[in-house]
Amino acid sequence: MIRQVFENKEVYMDLLLLADEQESMIARYLKRGELFVLEDIQVDVKAVCVVTHEGNGLFELKNLATKPNEQRKGYGKQMVDFVCEHFKKRGHTMQVGTGDSPLTIPFYEACGFIKSHQIDNFFIDHYDHPIFEAGQQLVHMIVLTKKLN
Ligand SMILES: CC(C)(COP(=O)(O)OP(=O)(O)OC[C@H]1O[C@@H](n2cnc3c(N)ncnc32)[C@H](O)[C@@H]1OP(=O)(O)O)[C@@H](O)C(=O)NCCC(=O)NCCS
Repeated sequence: MIRQVFENKEVYMDLLLLADEQESMIARYLKRGELFVLEDIQVDVKAVCVVTHEGNGLFELKNLATKPNEQRKGYGKQMVDFVCEHFKKRGHTMQVGTGDSPLTIPFYEACGFIKSHQIDNFFIDHYDHPIFEAGQQLVHMIVLTKKLN
């Protein structure tokens, strides 16, 4: 089951940090963002995500994480499908920015996102330490988009 969480969003910080390892960056969107959690029947959290409204019907997936031992079971895609359906009444496009990583780009493409553009040096300019994923340093942010209607 996927539900929206309105209070005490920081409770999910451990999972949010999997997708965005600097807490000060999470603080920039957690309060204004809408947080969703995917839980099983025992209320065990499998995945979380945060979506913000960037204006004029453009929504952005700011954070998405599936618990490490629960990955590749379809929960991430279930979450993306849910939020795209949820926000289509209010907007036209969902976008996501991610590092140029073989762990995330194929996932978003599998969820129907298409590469749009890149923000040069995003991970150098906005993070206080180098970020590595799959053995590679992340430098540019790759922005992907998906039409909601
Ligand atoms: C990226 C992430 C959210 C994907 O969640 P998930 O629940 O494991 O993904 P799903 O099981 O729904 O995957 C759906 C499809 O995406 C693709 N995919 C997912 N992870 C992939 C990977 N590591 N490499 C290649 N393709 C991948 C596959 O096509 C997969 O379908 P399949 O398993 O039938 O082949 C998860 O790996 C994660 O939490 N990573 C750490 C945090 C993070 O990096 N978040 C993204 C920040 S932008």
